[in-house]
Amino acid sequence: MVTEETVKVIEWLGDRVRLIDQTRLPQAEVYLDLTDYHDVAAAIKELKIRGAPAIGVAGAYALALGALHVKAATRKEFLKEFEKIKQAIASTRPTARNLFWSLERLAQVAQTSSEDVARTKEALVNEALRIHAEEAEATLKLSEFGAALLKDSSAILTHCNTGALATAGYGTALGVIKWAIKQGKHIRVLATETRPLLQGARLTCWELKKADIPATLITDSMAGYLMSLGKIDGVIVGADRIAANGDTANKIGTYTLAVLAKAHNIPFYIAAPTSTIDLSLASGKGIPIEERRPEEVTGFQGVTTAPADMAVANPAFDVTPHHLITAIITEKGVVGEPYGEGIKEICHVQAG
Ligand code: MRU
Repeated sequence: MVTEETVKVIEWLGDRVRLIDQTRLPQAEVYLDLTDYHDVAAAIKELKIRGAPAIGVAGAYALALGALHVKAATRKEFLKEFEKIKQAIASTRPTARNLFWSLERLAQVAQTSSEDVARTKEALVNEALRIHAEEAEATLKLSEFGAALLKDSSAILTHCNTGALATAGYGTALGVIKWAIKQGKHIRVLATETRPLLQGARLTCWELKKADIPATLITDSMAGYLMSLGKIDGVIVGADRIAANGDTANKIGTYTLAVLAKAHNIPFYIAAPTSTIDLSLASGKGIPIEERRPEEVTGFQGVTTAPADMAVANPAFDVTPHHLITAIITEKGVVGEPYGEGIKEICHVQAG
């Protein structure tokens, strides 16, 4: 049974970043050593590393790596280059709040650290390492909180991939499931395949196999029928961005599962670290939703499955309104309605 990160998802190696290429899983475990921040940014864009918390960690390492290579005689010149690198990394994926949260943390360090450029670079690397360690710790804590909500002998459905691969830690929704099982609860795990890029089939199933946790894989469209048969007792998923009122963006198909869960009176949980919360957005309406390439829908891994020139919609995420969410599980505690108040409280913002 796993208690920690089962795979080295991403590592800082002093002058480079090493990450497992998630587009190659489950067929091959390939590690990439990246010495140029452009390559780390491309890896984020191409989903070689993905999942909101892992994107945040990768973004921080990419910015630290870029900063290390800046040749600047003055602090002013350094900060100008730093800003350019930060913008390039920020433009990779728009929805995961964690990316912008971690880039802002590094920007704070750059703005406030010493006149000495070499020291600033060192401080940036240290901040990126701190972000990774803190985020990993947060996933362990939230998994423990969430596990208390899962009933013994229950069947729990999860969507997309929210384990070590998605978090560079223990996991969010999958972390909760793993922790409950570690506690001795009998949980029957159901994983959706998660069209179009199959993060559930490829990555969640790979992680569960590695952890020796039995699970059943279903296509996304089977969830409603299984709920109608009473074969699903709860749904737990991760999040890419949570607005101040609890509305939550997550992998496309999440909203459908939430509606189905409501219709069948099944609890629907979100698990995410507080770095996923965006207090600047009053509701989910303001969450930017990434639209990805049509080829992801018209085929898979080089095999075309639709007629040529089909019009395609490919939003990578959807937004679940807070009234469909039973609870949001974070490392600072579990929040329910009224979400506005609870979220402010865990983020230490004075109500007013
Ligand atoms: O497009 P992806 O694979 O980055 O999407 C990932 C998800 O939607 C996850 O559910 C979310 O980031 C939570 S990960 C702990």
